[in-house]
Amino acid sequence: MRLRLTFIGPPGSGKGTQAKLLRQRGFLHVSSGDMLRAEIEAGSERGRAIAATVASGGLVADEVLYEVVGAFLARHPDESIVLDGYPRTLAQARHLAQLHLDAAVFFEVSDDVLLRRLGDRVMGPDGTIYDLQLHPPPPGLAVTRRPDDDPAVQKKRLATYRAQEAELRAFYQAAGLAHPIHAELPLEQVQTQVNALVDCLTAPAPKR
Ligand code: AP5
Repeated sequence: MRLRLTFIGPPGSGKGTQAKLLRQRGFLHVSSGDMLRAEIEAGSERGRAIAATVASGGLVADEVLYEVVGAFLARHPDESIVLDGYPRTLAQARHLAQLHLDAAVFFEVSDDVLLRRLGDRVMGPDGTIYDLQLHPPPPGLAVTRRPDDDPAVQKKRLATYRAQEAELRAFYQAAGLAHPIHAELPLEQVQTQVNALVDCLTAPAPKR
């Protein structure tokens, strides 16, 4: 059965971590942040404009997202997909409503925990995410930090998310699609909640 989920949450709430884990269940992981970083890497004029916005902790224009994410979704009409970080504005949510969505999963984490996680996040050369305290990289591995994990930008990204959160939540609550999860728990316990939701959405309807 094909499922379409979106993971919505503040920076550092674990959207990417859990979306990657869902690949084991056959989902395609679609990260709007990764797609924008690929545009930046490509070095086009548009990539340079995106880079400036991402570095500031603000939001890239909705039209850019429609093009980048929309083109991907159009190429994969029949697959189970987990969207990570999209939609992020009410306009994006309305735009996405043209496609079928099964659930909008809201990752609930307090600001103190988010800032701790982002401060300790580093990446290995293959993109593996490590947490310097909880899952440190192997000794000697060359790790990097995301440029937008600079402390001042972290706070701006968090404020940007919090400014959009209520509208997004109200939109998905009204559509009956909002599913909050307690994402401050250890990784495995968050995964258990996500898996339970997927199981519930894929369970056959009871016979009458
Ligand atoms: P994006 O790349 O999407 O970044 P983000 O939303 O800020 O989220 P992060 O990737 O920082 O965090 P995450 O929730 O995925 O957490 P993670 O799993 O890594 O976007 C970057 C920028 O692109 C935006 O600022 C914006 O400019 C632009 N952009 C993107 N999408 C856009 C859109 N739709 N519209 C407009 N602009 C857009 O986990 C974080 C850390 O915590 C890791 O170290 C991890 O190991 C650890 N961790 C995870 N889960 C747990 C747990 N349960 N317990 C303990 N530690 C945990």
